[in-house]
Amino acid sequence: MGSAIMVANMKGGVGKSTLTCYLADYFRKFQKKRVLSLIDTDLQGSTYEMLGTDGRFANLRHLPVGDRYDAVNLVTVDTLVRSHLGTANDLLLIDTSAGKPDNICQIAMMCHCLLVPVSINWGDIRPTRDFIQEIQERKDSARAITPHIIVVPNRIPHQQRDYSRLKDALSELDVVIAPGLSDLSIVRHQTQKFAGIDPTKGTRFHDEIIHFGNFVTEYVVGGKLDDIYADTNVIELRR
Ligand SMILES: Nc1ncnc2c1ncn2[C@@H]1O[C@H](COP(=O)(O)OP(=O)(O)O)[C@@H](O)[C@H]1O
Ligand SMILES: [Mg+2]
Repeated sequence: MGSAIMVANMKGGVGKSTLTCYLADYFRKFQKKRVLSLIDTDLQGSTYEMLGTDGRFANLRHLPVGDRYDAVNLVTVDTLVRSHLGTANDLLLIDTSAGKPDNICQIAMMCHCLLVPVSINWGDIRPTRDFIQEIQERKDSARAITPHIIVVPNRIPHQQRDYSRLKDALSELDVVIAPGLSDLSIVRHQTQKFAGIDPTKGTRFHDEIIHFGNFVTEYVVGGKLDDIYADTNVIELRR
């Protein structure tokens, strides 16, 4: 089955577009056999701009889906996600806007997995928790095990490796915490002209983004999370 991965968080500025671009570059480099499609649903179109100038991403679309925007785009995104899930091996990566439009949650429910970047600052953690709670409620009422919710600690300061505050805040929720990503000034400066993973070579971020990409490949695309959740359901039924 194809994988539809959405990068989402109702908090702005947490690194959604940045993560989308780096993961896209990771897939392009390390998952050559899979066809990668990208949708930027944010009106601002950061991902569309960052990757659009690159020219190496053929299947890149800008389809703004917000509170007021285009019902037509929503239908298009809906159709693309559905057709994607029916294909073998393909990858679909969706970047989203801040805020919590119902449209975004609707698309999220169709996806295989949600990547939720967040810093370890309380100001980011609190709205992130609310956002995850909302998705969780939708999953529970639909009795769905997907989208898997993967929290991605981002912009971690150099000396700070302790995620305990983040873990504590999310302890009541059914989430997986991915390997974290450091704060790196080159990353901040790539916003205007995105040149991919290569310019970060020699930094901690470089190894981390590859490690993160491998994690997504194994657990999401490779189906490890599906297996774990399927087993959990079996255990719960037996109880
Ligand atoms: N790991 C990181 N290191 C340094 N800067 C980062 C990192 N991740 C994101 N940023 C910066 O944070 C800002 C917000 O990121 P962005 O991806 O636009 O967030 P969002 O899409 O969630 O609004 C940008 O200036 C971006 O370059
Ligand atoms: Mg963005």
